[in-house]
Amino acid sequence: MADAPNAVGVLGVGHLAGYLVQRLALNPARRVVLSPRNEERAQALAARHANVTVARDNAALVGEVDVVLLATRSQAAAGAIEGLPWHPAHTLVSLCAGVPLDALMLNAGAATLARAMPITAAAIGESPTCLYPDVAAAREVVQEFGPVHALADEAQLDVASVSAAFYGWVHSLIQEMALWSATQGLPPAASRALVSQTVRAAAGMVIAQPERSLPDLLEELCTPGGITELGLQTLQDVRAFEYWQRASQAVLDQIRSARD
Ligand SMILES: NC(=O)c1ccc[n+]([C@@H]2O[C@H](COP(=O)([O-])OP(=O)(O)OC[C@H]3O[C@@H](n4cnc5c(N)ncnc54)[C@H](OP(=O)(O)O)[C@@H]3O)[C@@H](O)[C@H]2O)c1
Repeated sequence: MADAPNAVGVLGVGHLAGYLVQRLALNPARRVVLSPRNEERAQALAARHANVTVARDNAALVGEVDVVLLATRSQAAAGAIEGLPWHPAHTLVSLCAGVPLDALMLNAGAATLARAMPITAAAIGESPTCLYPDVAAAREVVQEFGPVHALADEAQLDVASVSAAFYGWVHSLIQEMALWSATQGLPPAASRALVSQTVRAAAGMVIAQPERSLPDLLEELCTPGGITELGLQTLQDVRAFEYWQRASQAVLDQIRSARD
């Protein structure tokens, strides 16, 4: 069992895990133990942070920590945890989109299971992270990634997981707008800064005014005959928002079909 209460294991050191480890390692009281597969990436993270080490194998990792974050690709999740020395004091937090707890239960022994859905903004402590069920040991770790949203069941978690994809689409929107502004003559660096800061500004205003409805906030921005109204009307004329809903539904359908 763990020799420190704050030891966290990361099983599956890929794209997402790199960002999570970056954040977890900022806490000097935390020890982070990585699975050895994808060794170059794991060793690079360990070389960068004094409190990060690489386990000999996945069984050794489980033996060294109390909480394990499972960050393999979803298809590999159940197989990756099979046959490991799970103990009742373990909490296994799956970050794998579309993998229901039922699919992990048989291979997780006596460990307590939870699911969470962080995004790469965890690296800067800005990842809104949905959690189900609200297991204290899991919350204690994922709250370092950003605001935690405890959800009522896995169906809600599946819907919330679409936001992890939406996060990528917002990057795409920023790219489109920045490229367009640069093409029209704005210096590329200024264009990138302006667009990304504008997205943050819009989100900040919504967050700062929870008492006001979203339609109310939007209406206030749309001066009759003004440029915001003109652009929105143009987008609505081509039913642009319908396509965002279609994309969201396609992702949710895929997540749900993985569960069935
Ligand atoms: N990427 C995101 O922003 C994001 C956001 C929210 C949730 N998620 C979820 O996070 C999970 C990981 O996504 P990702 O984008 O980080 O995928 P990824 O880059 O493919 O990383 C997965 C890592 O797990 C490793 N792995 C596979 N089987 C293993 C095993 N038995 N033991 C140890 N390591 C093993 C893979 O090694 P090999 O390459 O050798 O197979 C790979 O290094 C997915 O389930 C996804 O749904 C991702």
